[in-house]
Amino acid sequence: MASEEQVRESLEAVLVPSINRSIVAMNLVREVTASGEKVNVTLASTGLIPDAQDWIKTKAKEVIEKLPDVNDANVEYTDAKAKDLNEIDHIVAVMSGKGGVGKSLVSGLLAIALKRKGYEVGILDADITGPSIPRMFGLSARPSGNEGGILPVLSGSGIEVMSINLLLPSEDDAIIWRGPLIGNTIKQFGEDVLWGKLDYLIVDLPPGTADAPLTLMQSFPISGVIVVFTPQDLVQMIVRKAVNMVRKMEKRVLGVVENMSYLYVPEIDKRIEVFGRSRGEETARAVNAPFLGQLPIDPKLAKLCDEGKIERYDDEIVTRLGEALVQVVSAGGR
Ligand SMILES: Nc1ncnc2c1ncn2[C@@H]1O[C@H](COP(=O)(O)OP(=O)(O)OP(=O)(O)O)[C@@H](O)[C@H]1O
Ligand SMILES: [Mg+2]
Repeated sequence: MASEEQVRESLEAVLVPSINRSIVAMNLVREVTASGEKVNVTLASTGLIPDAQDWIKTKAKEVIEKLPDVNDANVEYTDAKAKDLNEIDHIVAVMSGKGGVGKSLVSGLLAIALKRKGYEVGILDADITGPSIPRMFGLSARPSGNEGGILPVLSGSGIEVMSINLLLPSEDDAIIWRGPLIGNTIKQFGEDVLWGKLDYLIVDLPPGTADAPLTLMQSFPISGVIVVFTPQDLVQMIVRKAVNMVRKMEKRVLGVVENMSYLYVPEIDKRIEVFGRSRGEETARAVNAPFLGQLPIDPKLAKLCDEGKIERYDDEIVTRLGEALVQVVSAGGR
């Protein structure tokens, strides 16, 4: 007789089409009972189009019936809400006091760093009116789904991505939405996207301290927020504003990241502080938050982003950023 555990283990070989993660990783396996030579499995149909359901059922039967002493596998579907199936250990939001400082870039790099460290990672592009994550990752596939939920799209290195841009008929369609609708969309992302089991979900927020970060903090159980900024005269004031908002919502500021701190010119082996003196450490101290690191202006990185190949960026700076994040997250528990 096969044990329940053996059955669950065998189901790890059954992949969800279009996302290529197993039905176990997507948390679709609801119930397993094994008695004698008979095994019964109940799967959630959440996010699965009929063809995918059929395919998974056939595959699941096949792998279970290959187990020793199993003669008959019965696989059934049940309805479940995406929200109830998601098991995400850490939700980390990336915000900034002002636009264009590199939130999306930092969100992308953090996800890449964590994925490289072996974690299961997703990115939610919560910038409804200016989504840029799919472009950086070169993604255009349309997410599939059903009444129960929608499945993210998988990036080249295996990061789950969800963005309003993937759901629009054309990537260039502009969205003119009012605040409440944006809030609703973000909330809906929280309820309808089936992420499955993730170690980290990185949320790329729109700039500023308006509705979107508020909605996110109210409706997602976030572990904390990372604030991104660039060197400039008013940086401390702008960062403080963002940090105060997070703390007012009783959420943790996991740390701050300074982007575009300097440009390195190899010919003269010099760092040029293009936007003024770097104040990363100083700003972190001023707002009493950990300094997670600084990123230089790197034309190579800008090019990769434009080409949709951000995952090819392999500077050690990315690794360090990921390590710093893991450290602060684990230092504070959940
Ligand atoms: N360190 C960097 N080196 C090179 N290019 C960068 C760097 N940081 C950001 N960029 C480029 O600057 C642009 C803005 O970055 P990004 O989209 O990440 O900013 P953002 O804060 O998310 O903007 P928004 O407020 O519009 O959401 C992008 O084209 C990105 O490729
Ligand atoms: Mg952005």
